[in-house]
Amino acid sequence: MTTGDLVVHDPGRMTFQLRPAYAMALARGLGVGEPMSGMCQHVGWLAKVEDLVVECFRKGGGVSFETFGQVVWGSDATTEPYDLDTVDPMTVDDVLSLLPDVARRLESGIDVADVGCGGGWQLNLLARRFPASRFVGYDLLDRSLEPGRRVARSLGLTNVRFEQKDAATVDGSGKFDFITTFDAIHDQARPDLALRGIAKSLRAGGTYIGVDVSGSSTLANNLRAPLAVFKYTWSVLYCMTSSLAYNGMGLGGMWGEELAQKMMREAGFTSVKTVHLPANLINCYHIATVA
Ligand SMILES: C[S@@+](CC[C@H](N)C(=O)[O-])C[C@H]1O[C@@H](n2cnc3c(N)ncnc32)[C@H](O)[C@@H]1O
Repeated sequence: MTTGDLVVHDPGRMTFQLRPAYAMALARGLGVGEPMSGMCQHVGWLAKVEDLVVECFRKGGGVSFETFGQVVWGSDATTEPYDLDTVDPMTVDDVLSLLPDVARRLESGIDVADVGCGGGWQLNLLARRFPASRFVGYDLLDRSLEPGRRVARSLGLTNVRFEQKDAATVDGSGKFDFITTFDAIHDQARPDLALRGIAKSLRAGGTYIGVDVSGSSTLANNLRAPLAVFKYTWSVLYCMTSSLAYNGMGLGGMWGEELAQKMMREAGFTSVKTVHLPANLINCYHIATVA
C-alpha cells in the first residue's frame, strides 16, 4: 500500500498515514450504506465466480443467484437475520426526502410493495417507522426472504409480510399506492415484465421509485464517470450473468438511465424522471407515476 502510494510513509519517523480523502471514503463510504472498505471485499467475492462466468461466455447461459449464494457466501449465509438498528438508513431517508407527499401518506396508512426485496431491510425500516401503513416484500428466492421475516418477527412488526414471487408475475391490479425497488430491476430475467407488473399494480396517482445503478446506457458517456470500473465489473460478473442464467435479457447493472427510462415509459408509467443525489455515486433514483 505504501509503494502503491495509498499510504504516505515518513521513513525518518517510521510513520504511515492514510491520505485524508482515502480515509473518508474507506470509513464513511460513498453513499450506499456501506463504507468503501466493505465494498472492496466485493472484488474478492466476484473473483470466486470469474471462471464460471468465463465459461458462460464460451458456452452461453449464466451463473444463477443460487450458485452465487453457494460459491460466494456459503449456502446458509442468506438466512441469517440482521440488526435493524445497525443498518444505514440513508437510502430509505433519501427516498422519503425525494417524495415528501408519499412520506406524509405513509404516516396516515397506505399499501406499499418492495419488489426484489431480498432480506428486506429497507421494508422493515419503513414498516417500523410507519406503523399505520401495510408493507409486502416480494423476491424470487424464498430463502432470501427468511432474514427479513425473522427480523420482522423479532421486532413484532405485524404490518409487513414477505412473499416468494417472481417479479415478472407481479400483478396487484391497482392494489398499491407506493412501490419500491432497491437495485432489483436490471438483474432480473425479465425487467420489462417486472416494470409492467409494477405499473399495473399501482393505484391511479400511485408512485414507483426504482433505486438503481447510475450511469449512461452509452459506454462512451461513462469513460470518466466515478466508479465506472467497479460498476461494470459488478455488471458483468453478477447482474448480467444472473439474468442470463434464467434465460433473461442480461441487461446488467450498467443498462443505463436512458434505457431504464424508455422501459419505464413502455411499461405504462405516465411520467418518469431520474434524480441524482451528490452524496450517492452508485445509485440514481427513477421516480415514475401512473395517472
Ligand atoms: C441486488 S439484490 C437487492 C436486494 C434488496 N433489494 C437490497 O437492496 O438489499 C436483487 C434481488 O432481486 C431478486 N430478484 C431477481 N430476480 C427476481 C425476480 N424475477 N423476481 C423477484 N425478485 C428477483 C434477487 O433474488 C435479489 O434478492
